Amino acid sequence: MTDELLATDPIGRFRADVLAGLSRPQKQIPAKYFYDAAGSRLFDAITELPEYYPTRTENGILRAHAGELARWCGPHCLLVELGAGRLTKVRLLLDRLDSPAGYVPVDVCGDHLLAAAAGLADDYPALHITPVVVDFTTSFALPGLPGVRRVAFFPGSTIGNFDPPEANVLLRRIADLVRPGGGLLLGVDLRKDPAVLERAYDDAAGVTAAFNRNLLTRINRELGADFAPGAFRHVAVYNRDRSRVEMHLVSDAAQRVSVCGRAFRFRAGESIHTENSYKYDVAELASRAAGCGWHLENCRTDERGYFAVLLLTVMDRSRHLNHTRQGVRL
Ligand code: AVJ
Repeated sequence: MTDELLATDPIGRFRADVLAGLSRPQKQIPAKYFYDAAGSRLFDAITELPEYYPTRTENGILRAHAGELARWCGPHCLLVELGAGRLTKVRLLLDRLDSPAGYVPVDVCGDHLLAAAAGLADDYPALHITPVVVDFTTSFALPGLPGVRRVAFFPGSTIGNFDPPEANVLLRRIADLVRPGGGLLLGVDLRKDPAVLERAYDDAAGVTAAFNRNLLTRINRELGADFAPGAFRHVAVYNRDRSRVEMHLVSDAAQRVSVCGRAFRFRAGESIHTENSYKYDVAELASRAAGCGWHLENCRTDERGYFAVLLLTVMDRSRHLNHTRQGVRL
């Protein structure tokens, strides 16, 4: 019962996640809480940094293959974008789609999403746009539209923010959402030189550091806390063993912080782990997706092999069972 109540009360959920996360031996806060209005603006600024190659690279792939991707989506499809943000990438697809049945951008940041959707409506007057303000890891409904193929668009390597078990849960949920025969265009950041990765998450201008610290500002404002964001240092490191960039906020001095009337102590050098950004290779992600009901139909990447867009379809049941059996035998 508590869980259901919390799920319908975003602030209650936020409070519970922060208090639980700060109570762990390795303090942590889920990365989805970065995206209040200020955090969403800071993230937009990150996407334009010289060091942050993922957005530019993915846009290049989408631009180069837009016609092919749109044909693969098919005529009259319902396009559902998860973590839609500024609605810039989807324009590359919308420009080429054959009379889409509709577009459903889903984002947790309401102000940001509704403003972006209004801007998109001006540019695509014939398109049915249904913005949904929700955390896309929770369940939500789509317009019924019987017989319409649903295609999920999940760009930006947001899949990389999920630990492997959570990524599996999410991939299964997306398969349920788009139903058998439905599609998924999945953008993913690939493994590469750790120096390139670490620069992308610790830029010279300090925008990523500000994005990381904004989480503390948000907690102060929304949950009643007394973090001094300047007393925490931004750190981004590539963890080779786990193939992920980790972001932390490190307290260089011992300090005490009060959150919702509860005291939390930091030792000198102790950190809050604020984000994981997993890096994949295509074969590995395809096999993970296959375990969650997806069949890889195609994949497009850039010249440097920095980023990939996977084209996946929900397998029918018998095929999924076959795959699972095969997986057990191997
Ligand atoms: C939300 C997955 C696009 O992990 O690269 C950017 C968020 N964090 N810089 C990523 C992020 C720090 C980002 N994505």
